[in-house]
Amino acid sequence: MNSLGKRIDQLKKQKNAVILAHNYQPAEIQDIADYVGDSLELARISQSIQCSTILFCGVHFMAETAKILNPGKKVLLPDLHAGCPMANMITPEQLQAEKMKHPHAAAITYINSTAAVKALSDVCCTSANGVEIVRSTAADAVIFSPDKYLGAYIERLVPEKKYHIWNGYCPTHMVFTHEGVLALKEEHPDALVLVHPECRVEVQAIADRICSTSQMIGFARDQKTEKFIICTETGLLHRLRKINPGKTFIAGSAHAICPNMKLTTLEKAIWALEDGRHEIEVNPEIQTAARSAIEKMVQNY
Ligand code: 13P
Ligand code: SF4
Repeated sequence: MNSLGKRIDQLKKQKNAVILAHNYQPAEIQDIADYVGDSLELARISQSIQCSTILFCGVHFMAETAKILNPGKKVLLPDLHAGCPMANMITPEQLQAEKMKHPHAAAITYINSTAAVKALSDVCCTSANGVEIVRSTAADAVIFSPDKYLGAYIERLVPEKKYHIWNGYCPTHMVFTHEGVLALKEEHPDALVLVHPECRVEVQAIADRICSTSQMIGFARDQKTEKFIICTETGLLHRLRKINPGKTFIAGSAHAICPNMKLTTLEKAIWALEDGRHEIEVNPEIQTAARSAIEKMVQNY
């Protein structure tokens, strides 16, 4: 372990802190984290760990979710500029207007959203459980926001509902193209194509499997196949290669880099632990309403 890693270890003990890192974090951050996972796993882990401080290496909505689920813990984000553009593509006012237009529809909201939007939602979902959550909702109609591609994927698998899908998207997952992935498939005919549901519909159409980041890890580990084309943010390749040293993982696009996820550095993690910053705070009223939407998901799916 280098000197930065040793300093982080010291600070973790001093501050009674645990480090959670999303699968898209830079390799050196994943390597010093106590837990690495997808958004659903990290939300669950945040509730089960014994500590007074969570250093959340990810983007703002993930740290905010951890804070909402753990109001008694201090939650720190190493860089406050680490936002998620998709989460900002729908405002609470816009969701409220959709609810007025479709009063009988259930508002099902992707976890990639702000706390204020979650607070107006019936239930949250992630890419790991969206299909199940929509399928089991009692309502015949669904307002799904903000991701139109995850919405389209769910609509295809649960066609019996009526959908009002918001027009949001992830700029990082937009870089995967049908032509680009087809060319890689031709070059590597023995590879399976794993696609995140935030990818365009035409990329989903040529996937062997559409799933969340951690589901990709489980799938690649359990298959006899030796080669995979991975269509999600490139940070996941580090974890895939670490868990499966004998297998080959090819990036579906070398440009799929989320600039917000890459704002975390070891130095910023140290400063965050030393100075107790940047502490995530959520308005108490929003916190209570948002917790109900998140807890329904975490407890039941
Ligand atoms: P996961 O839920 O698969 O971790 O994805 C989160 C995300 O931000 C995808 O871009
Ligand atoms: Fe948001 Fe896309 Fe980055 Fe995920 S990869 S955090 S959806 S911008």
